[in-house]
Parts: sequence; C-alpha cells; structure tokens
Amino acid sequence: MKLQERVFSGIQPTGNLHLGNYLGAITKFVALQESHDCLFCVVDLHAITVWQDPGELRHNTREVTAAFLAAGIDAKKHIIFNQSAVSGHAELAWIFNCVARMGWLNRMTQFKEKAGKNRENASVGLYAYPNLMAADILLYRATHVPVGEDQKQHLELARDIAQKFNTDFSDSCAASGFADGYFPLPEPLITGPATRVMSLRDGRSKMSKSDPSDLSRINMTDDADSIAKKVRKAKTDPEPLPSEAAGLEGRPEAANLIGIYSAMAERSGDDILAEFGGRQFSDFKKALVDLAVENISPIGEEMRRLMEDPGEIDAILADGAGRAHEIADPHMAEIREIVGFIVS
Ligand code: AMP
Ligand code: TRP
Repeated sequence: MKLQERVFSGIQPTGNLHLGNYLGAITKFVALQESHDCLFCVVDLHAITVWQDPGELRHNTREVTAAFLAAGIDAKKHIIFNQSAVSGHAELAWIFNCVARMGWLNRMTQFKEKAGKNRENASVGLYAYPNLMAADILLYRATHVPVGEDQKQHLELARDIAQKFNTDFSDSCAASGFADGYFPLPEPLITGPATRVMSLRDGRSKMSKSDPSDLSRINMTDDADSIAKKVRKAKTDPEPLPSEAAGLEGRPEAANLIGIYSAMAERSGDDILAEFGGRQFSDFKKALVDLAVENISPIGEEMRRLMEDPGEIDAILADGAGRAHEIADPHMAEIREIVGFIVS
C-alpha cells in the first residue's frame, strides 16, 4: 500500500515570531495546504527544553496559533494543534531515544549552539530534542516537512531514525503487514529565496527569536512604524546595489535584503536587481518598507484581533488535537505491537 503524502511541521512557542519564521516556514505552510493534507503543530514540548515561564508559554502557544490562522491556514481543512495535547509525541520520542545513537546526537550543531559553553548544565531534553522532532513527524507517518535551512540536519536525523527503526524491527514490521518497514523517510522541503533570513544588524548571523536586539528582526506583530524604522536602520555597505545576483557575493547584508524582497514580492533576485542595480540602498529600502508593511502588518493586526479571544484559539487547538489523535492513536497501537509491548 502506498503511503498517502502528508505534510507535518512545527514551530516553537518561544515568543518573538519573526520574518524568518514567516518566510522560511509559515508561507510554505500556507502554499502546501492547497496540495496536501497538513498538520501544523505548536511544539510546546520542544519549547520547555529551555525553561519557560508557564504563563508566557501559554500566551506564546496561542500566539503561534494566531499566526497560523492570520497567515491563512485553514484550521477546518487542516490540523492545527499543540504537541503536548497528543501524548503519542512523548511516547514515540522515548522509543526513538532507544533507537537513535549517542554519536548521532553528538553531531547536532543546534545543540552545540544552544547549549553554549556550559554543556553540563543543558537539559537532557535539549540534547534529545531531535528525537522528539523525529517522533512528531513519524507519529503521523508524514512524508514532507517544510522548514528553514537550520532544520536540515534534524531532518536528516529523522530519516536515519526511521531507517534504523525499519531495519531493527524489519521482521516485526513484516509480521504486522508492513513489508517495506513502518515509517516513510520524510523529505525536507527547504525551498525559495528565504530559507535562511539573516539578522538585520549582522548579515552573518541568523535572524532569531533570542537575539537581544529587537532591531535585528522584524516581528510578525510589529506595526508599520516599527517595520519602517527597522528596515531604515538595517545594516548595509557603502556600495550601490549590483545589477545582477552574482554581484552580491561577499555582501551578506545586501544579499539578505534582496532575498527578503524576493520572497515577499515573489520575484527573482536578478529581476529585482535589474530594477535597483546601480541605485543607493535608500531607494531600495523605501520599496522594501512598503512591501514589508503590506505583507506583515495585516497579519500582525489579525493576530492581535485573534488574541483578544483566547477561548476561541483554545477551542481551535482542542479540535485540532482531537483530529490529530485520530491519526496518531492507531499508529501508536501499531508501533507498540511492532516493538513487542503487550497491549492491555
Ligand atoms: P523555531 O522558531 O525555531 O521553532 O522555527 C520555526 C520555523 O522557522 C522552522 O522551520 C525554522 O527553520 C524556521 N526559521 C527560523 N528562523 C529562521 C530564519 N532566520 N530564516 C528562515 N527560516 C527560519
Ligand atoms: N525544531 C523545529 C525548530 O526549532 C521545530 C519542530 C519541532 C519541527 N518538531 C518539528 C519542525 C517537526 C518540523 C517538523 O524550528
């Protein structure tokens, strides 16, 4: 039996949703809902790998949900839910803790970055984080995973885990009727000009929720004035813009702004440079402000409107969790059988 194509992706409710999240992930989600069955998950279990204030966690979970809805994800046709509401995520993650090898996790660059110098003091959860991410995807036997560039290595690990599970339990899978193994090898979807949006203050570091400088990122909830101010203050270099994409080499700030423009305008970099090549950044920034305000402000406004009714957001999450359970629970029963647990 051929597995149905299914999209899964997740975003952590850790505050400050920004243009990188929007262009690198959320716009892809919106596009994929036309062609696929999708699950979009607010990954609260991932968020607590670093301590979160409980009240803020709840607020941020609702805010990511509001961002999904405001960006245009249809919660009736697709599934929006929070991870902790479906216990299969944690249960399958435990099984994957026993499938994945220490050596595999030791290579994960995100752990190294997030743990920093004080690795001894990082949570065990932060270390095992990629196993939980593999569980998120594979619990639904999802086949396609839209993410930004920074998640590529985690996706490769998820494929390795799926492959090792299928091999370790090949006889048992076959006995349960899955001759080709139980899990599909999920494919990353990392496409377009904005898979890695960089900080507005430093073209060599990623735009991130945790950057202490708010000027480094455009938040999805920023109003028009803040967007304009941040674009105006964005770091550039003294040269005018080049006329072709090749001229952006070694100019990370210019390349980043062109990438952002390209993603929002849905035009190629060359096309944009044909228009702005030879001109000063100030001209280009004016056009970028208009485009960013046009793209982001209505979403921020809608998010604020939705956040006024947390009960409605919670109801959407509860409905999504119910439908996620319907897919996950039969899978979890099959997985328990394959692993050899007695199901009472
Ligand atoms: P996170 O906020 O870490 O949960 O990330 C949620 C999604 O946004 C993931 O698919 C990330 O790959 C993506 N993402 C985060 N930061 C960026 C960025 N600076 N550029 C592009 N995509 C990003
Ligand atoms: N680790 C992802 C991030 O920080 C979030 C995430 C958790 C995710 N589970 C996932 C993304 C499953 C895609 C699929 O960006």
